Amino acid sequence: MKQEKILIIGACGQIGVELTLALRNIYGNNNVIASDLRPTVHPLLADSGPYYTIDATDIKAVAALVAKESITQIYLLAALLSATGEKMPMKAWEINMDSLLQIMELSVEKKLTKLYWPSSIAVFGTTTPKQNTPQKTIVEPTTVYGISKYAGEMWCQYFHRRWGLDVRSLRYPGLISWKSAPGGGTTDYAVEIYIEALKQKQYTSFLSADTYLPMMYMDDAIRGTIELMEAPEAQIKSRMAYNLSAMSFSPKEIAAEIQKHIPDFKIDYAPDFRQAIADSWPASIDDAAARQDWQWQHRFDLEKMTKAMLENLGK
Ligand code: NAD
Ligand code: SER
Repeated sequence: MKQEKILIIGACGQIGVELTLALRNIYGNNNVIASDLRPTVHPLLADSGPYYTIDATDIKAVAALVAKESITQIYLLAALLSATGEKMPMKAWEINMDSLLQIMELSVEKKLTKLYWPSSIAVFGTTTPKQNTPQKTIVEPTTVYGISKYAGEMWCQYFHRRWGLDVRSLRYPGLISWKSAPGGGTTDYAVEIYIEALKQKQYTSFLSADTYLPMMYMDDAIRGTIELMEAPEAQIKSRMAYNLSAMSFSPKEIAAEIQKHIPDFKIDYAPDFRQAIADSWPASIDDAAARQDWQWQHRFDLEKMTKAMLENLGK
């Protein structure tokens, strides 16, 4: 079997750090090249393999790196997320779309074996069924982030149909992690709450008490991503992006779970502009297609995740 050489673009972000470490475990440190716009590598990646500072929208630089490192697969994670995207919509469109389109073209030209590009629950909007949102349904995103993700999904499908590009994608829910910080999303409260619970036993949520959103612990998301990428091609029936689900909870519910470990933890609520974004998204996701096509299964629920987050952040 040909040895894969993987390039991760956006490797210093919330997902990138953990995905890079996981892929290095599988493929070997020198076969997984980390890259990001950031001038210096994330401390957790510092001694584990090569790192390059690169702009995902600078396709000449990306092409030169692909040639230099004989890259065979790319994971394109660079993006502006929902909340940051609403502050600079044109910039979000440029980063999210230009990088994807150019890197898809490069992948076809250089005959890369696979491309991974994540989508999001942000593709769904207020007209989408809110509970158990199906894989195929009404899709009218309200944020520039959601628009870029849905357009990106359509382009993935097009490149697969037209040029046979083996591009794979997941609609991640809000991801919760302790190793690396979240980067400007609407679901970031569900990470901040654990940090503040441990630091000062108090958290002011920027979403209201009963705002339910689909969520997932990072370990599940990383394993799901790798399982999707390693699944035989014939099992990948969707070239848009697969719905992926683990749990759904509200700020009130996560606070109650934390109080089982820190009884004097207090939460209050001061919803800001992110409330409208959250209100436009599903409360829960139906991921039957992922479970059927490539046997996706989550392992963490709210109780297990809370234990893991408090234990690990506590260290
Ligand atoms: P993040 O913001 O934590 O990380 C993104 C990384 O990309 C950052 O390190 C940033 O420096 C880098 N970056 C930004 N612009 C760049 C550019 N022009 N060139 C190179 N690097 C650049 O985001 P994340 O949470 O790790 O998300 C990664 C991907 O997963 C994104 O596409 C995001 O939309 C998607 N996603 C994330 C979540 C989540 O909850 N974290 C949920 C759904 C989808
Ligand atoms: N967690 C992401 C965000 O809130 C969802 O894509 O933007």
